[in-house]
Amino acid sequence: MANVTVIGAQWGDEGKGKLVDWLSNRADVVVRFQGGHNAGHTLVVGNQTYKLSLLPSGVVQGKLSIIGNGVVVDPWHLLKEIATLGDQGVMITPDLLVVADNACLILPIHRDLDQAREAAALNKIGTTGRGIGPAYEDKVGRRAIRVADLADREALEAKIDRLLAHHAPLRRGLGLPDVDPAALLAELEAIAPRVLVYARPAWLLLDELVKTGKRVLFEGAQGALLDVDHGTYPYVTSSNTVAGQAAAGSGLGPKGPGYVLGIVKAYTTRVGEGPFPTELFDAVGEHLGTVGREVGTVTGRSRRCGWFDAALVRQSVALNGIAGIALTKLDVLDGLPTLKICTGYRLGDQEISYLPSGLKAQSQLVPVYEEMEGWSGTTQGARSWKDLPASAVKYVRRIEELIGAPVALLSTSPQRDDTILMRDPFHD
Ligand code: GDP
Ligand code: IMO
Ligand code: MG
Repeated sequence: MANVTVIGAQWGDEGKGKLVDWLSNRADVVVRFQGGHNAGHTLVVGNQTYKLSLLPSGVVQGKLSIIGNGVVVDPWHLLKEIATLGDQGVMITPDLLVVADNACLILPIHRDLDQAREAAALNKIGTTGRGIGPAYEDKVGRRAIRVADLADREALEAKIDRLLAHHAPLRRGLGLPDVDPAALLAELEAIAPRVLVYARPAWLLLDELVKTGKRVLFEGAQGALLDVDHGTYPYVTSSNTVAGQAAAGSGLGPKGPGYVLGIVKAYTTRVGEGPFPTELFDAVGEHLGTVGREVGTVTGRSRRCGWFDAALVRQSVALNGIAGIALTKLDVLDGLPTLKICTGYRLGDQEISYLPSGLKAQSQLVPVYEEMEGWSGTTQGARSWKDLPASAVKYVRRIEELIGAPVALLSTSPQRDDTILMRDPFHD
């Protein structure tokens, strides 16, 4: 199989960025296909740390990188991220980066709406406040401004009028000031040339690349349980995060995604509100948060931490068609005397093996755990399977059994090279 699709199999922050960076030297092109700069992907290479939110993680290895049509693009953020990476010595040019000309834009009015709604809401979602939800609303509402519109003043003017006609009453209702259409037009025209240099029909480029035998690595953002259809709705993001979206969000067709590699953290975390059956509020939860440095890259919020939930990942394996997983952050469990794995839930007097759709049922789930012995040795920085303590191997094997998917890669620290390859997703 030629292509590989990397997706988060939990609630995000599984280590997708690290793995995409590591895998990208085996690929010819790296493609983001959903989400926006709500993502936060940290890559550590030697003493350099790169934080990416919108740019595909392939840029650090100098791979051709595409922001696909399924992504919502904040053009000001895009330029800022390009500049930050430039300061770190990663030069982004139109030879390296392509932005789909049919991708929709995130505007300041989307950020305003996102933040004002969260501030006013009784039941907050805990969004990143970056305008992702409102931008996708305008996309499906057929009001959005797309990258290609930046080259067409007439289209831009008409679209701004249409967009503001929709936003004006919403803004007034939330106590936000009116937006001057001429000012928004001027702001967009001011940055248009700097964005348009990257704009192309990405589907066409991908089609050409694939026809000449090039290998594509798709980079998912967020995680399957944040998917707008399959996640813990409404505590989700506003895009489809599952692997199937790689096709629609890039224009490559349903055979495009290839081998689906689920990125799975050796325990569970979540940022923001919403159900989390295995969440811990004790010293173990604190250990995971501290040792795992579980602080969100985008918002600086502490991530909620809990035991590994095999039922949830099993569901993810089915939803995404996962062929193999990359298990990350095993090292964070070093030193814990006992480990627990959730194998299913109890709901009242029923046993249930999956996460039900109803909010009430989700909040009432009681995890069923099995206990395993921890290990006294260390897995931190291990680069070979045979360096792992016997109990760590047992833990990994039990996870494979419970989720019904094999471990293809194992990550043992934030560093790029602290990665163990068990089977190559590009050759499986
Ligand atoms: P992403 O959103 O899925 O790309 O993940 P994030 O980058 O938001 O969060 C993962 C965090 O864990 C980052 O700070 C990584 O540097 C770090 N990380 C990745 N893999 C490992 C690992 O195997 N062990 C440890 N200790 N940290 C890791
Ligand atoms: P990466 O790619 C973890 C969460 C937010 C919130 C919900 C909706 O780094 O794994 P949004 O701003 O998208 O409307 O917020 O989704 N969320 C993430 N959580 N990792 C992410 O991305 C996330 N992107 C959004 O915290 O709960
Ligand atoms: Mg992240």
